[in-house]
Amino acid sequence: MLIVAQLSDFHVRRPGQTAYGIDTNAMFERAIQGVLDMDPRPDCVVVSGDLTDCGLDEEYEYVLAGLRRLPMPVYVIPGNHDLRGPFVKILSRNFRYLPRAGYVNYCVEDYPLRIVALDSVIDGETGGRFCAERQAWLRDALARGKGKPTLIMIHHPPFPVAVNGMDTLGLQEASAFADIIQAHPEIERVVCGHYHRPITVRFAGTVGFAVPSVAHQVALDLRPGTSNRFIMEPPSFAIHTWRRDSGVVTHLMPIGNYGGPFDIVLAPEYPGLKSHV
Ligand SMILES: [Fe+2]
Ligand SMILES: [Fe+2]
Repeated sequence: MLIVAQLSDFHVRRPGQTAYGIDTNAMFERAIQGVLDMDPRPDCVVVSGDLTDCGLDEEYEYVLAGLRRLPMPVYVIPGNHDLRGPFVKILSRNFRYLPRAGYVNYCVEDYPLRIVALDSVIDGETGGRFCAERQAWLRDALARGKGKPTLIMIHHPPFPVAVNGMDTLGLQEASAFADIIQAHPEIERVVCGHYHRPITVRFAGTVGFAVPSVAHQVALDLRPGTSNRFIMEPPSFAIHTWRRDSGVVTHLMPIGNYGGPFDIVLAPEYPGLKSHV
């Protein structure tokens, strides 16, 4: 079985600084520890953008030092809070798969589940784009891996999520993106960050998924016309397992100690069941 951990939206600041009053650096460290504490550990980690809050060199240095604690391969893409220049300049010291110029698009071919990583960033804007150049790149990349189980990672969700505040910050050219995905039934998941909430949706013949942040979450607000506010719900990352018989199965992994695990021991008078479950 292949185990892929998806971490997202660290929003790391300069050492000693907070983001919106939140110690995102400490929460990032706890997320790294959460991955290290897993047994078995993931085979690789994918990071779906917003690694820093402001795109500063010092922030990337902090991110890199944290990610270096992970013994398994780590695959990163930028989000709207990243700046492509410093992101590549600093992270490519460790992550040599990162393209040195242009968009941060690449494929990982080392596992039975192929990973296709996409850059949806427009410098200086909150929303994302999937322009003609990126569309052409994805078409070529998917043609090369046709038939092989594939996980697509992109920061901006290319699907509406029924939350006004989020749906105004999504991906432009999402229908072009969906058309490309639709033509490839081997795509198991399109996994995203950006919305800081766990969201699952049917999308273009596959499953779309947005992962929570390892730091602050965005409050679920289904009232029309409202904007986003953050909330300190439990931070989480996702575990995507892949096996030939099950395909990709996605689990949510809260970060932190919530007690247990405890053995499930039923009371002797428990009705109906002959054995404990
Ligand atoms: Fe974010
Ligand atoms: Fe974002």
